[in-house]
Amino acid sequence: MNIGIDLISFHAPSYVLDLRILAEMRGVDPDKFVIGIGQERMAIVPPDQDIVTLAANAALPIVDKAGRDDIELVILATESGIDQSKAAALFCHKLLGLPAACRCIEVKEACYGATAALRMAAAMVAARPHTKALVLAADIARYDLASPGEPTQGAGAIAMLVSTRPRVLALDPESGFHAEDIMDFWRPNYREEAIVDGKYSTRMYLTTLLRAWKNYHAASGRSLTDHAHLCFHLPFTKIAYKSFERLCKADGIPLPPRDELERLIDPALHYNRQTGNTYAACVYEALASLLDHAPANLARKRIGLFSYGSGCMAEFFSGVVQAGYRDHLFTDTHRTMLDSRTPVTYRQYEDIFNYGVPSDGADHVFAPYRGGAFRLAGIKDHKRRYEAK
Ligand code: HMG
Repeated sequence: MNIGIDLISFHAPSYVLDLRILAEMRGVDPDKFVIGIGQERMAIVPPDQDIVTLAANAALPIVDKAGRDDIELVILATESGIDQSKAAALFCHKLLGLPAACRCIEVKEACYGATAALRMAAAMVAARPHTKALVLAADIARYDLASPGEPTQGAGAIAMLVSTRPRVLALDPESGFHAEDIMDFWRPNYREEAIVDGKYSTRMYLTTLLRAWKNYHAASGRSLTDHAHLCFHLPFTKIAYKSFERLCKADGIPLPPRDELERLIDPALHYNRQTGNTYAACVYEALASLLDHAPANLARKRIGLFSYGSGCMAEFFSGVVQAGYRDHLFTDTHRTMLDSRTPVTYRQYEDIFNYGVPSDGADHVFAPYRGGAFRLAGIKDHKRRYEAK
């Protein structure tokens, strides 16, 4: 039985900061951000958007196209949770008008959460092949102002419909994974910003890539050349080049010339370069970018995916692009959304960064900003109130 991604949709907030502006304010050569780490812009989340609205906005085109009736499971992966108890998936479930006979949960393991969600969704759909699952991943990446992590901040959400008749990507059953208890990046409950040991986290990302790859190779017998493209978790896009280099070395394959390397790697990087790190959504944002931008038809080609979540969990897995997949992409919606974002000044970025919501239960109403179909309208008695625009 084929199981995999039937539809995939990506959503980013409607405001954006050019990293050249940030570089100027921080007294840094802009090439460090644009070339050194490979990022051009950072998505800025206005006060009336959060992970619920980002995720629901990502999912709306999917449920509008595929219908709502067969969806029996919604899993939302995030590390920017809005509540310690209630699953954010329940808010999305209501906004999207999904059936009441549906399981809704939230999962977490840093940026790896969405991959765990995808695997759980695939297992659930395998058990009940006539049903579908909606996997959502939404995050807002925040580091301290003027810290090394700041230029890698970002935000966005991905939505994937999982079914037994996937029109976009059929998942291979084999995968290679690796778990290790480390402190490379974390966010205690009392902090808004993540704490990170940047260089160590990057080293661990690359080390666990090789471990997950080795396990994947042992499980599948496949080598690097069996994959037409690779999609990596993208805390910053330059890491995709470093990762590919490591894998070539591990497989004893000479590194392709620069133009060939760019042809292989770059199509998956376009969206992330424009949004920054979207944590749990990242590797699937890379997949959406690849499918939307690869000039060649990828039908029947195998794609390798590497998912990394600090803490840490790593998984290398793969899938085969389905014939006719281009007819089921949301390429135009993605491009229009990113092209029509409103640029913010440095001052506006800082104001939004420092915007706080009351924690005493007082009535708070959010001014309307540009965004998708859903927004956070207010908070009253510690309850978030969402609305469709
Ligand atoms: P840094 O210390 O500011 O940067 O931190 P750097 O000095 O290492 O420079 C970065 C690169 O820019 C270097 O290239 C420089 O040579 C180059 P490299 O040697 O790495 O190839 N550079 C220049 N290039 C062109 N022109 C110039 C120039 N100047 C320097 N003028 C760091 C960089 C990524 C560590 C920092 O941004 C950071 O701490 N980021 C946050 C943590 C992170 O992204 N970690 C990645 C792995 S962990 C992960 O992926 C999980 C995560 O997504 C969270 C989760 O799982 O939930 C983060």
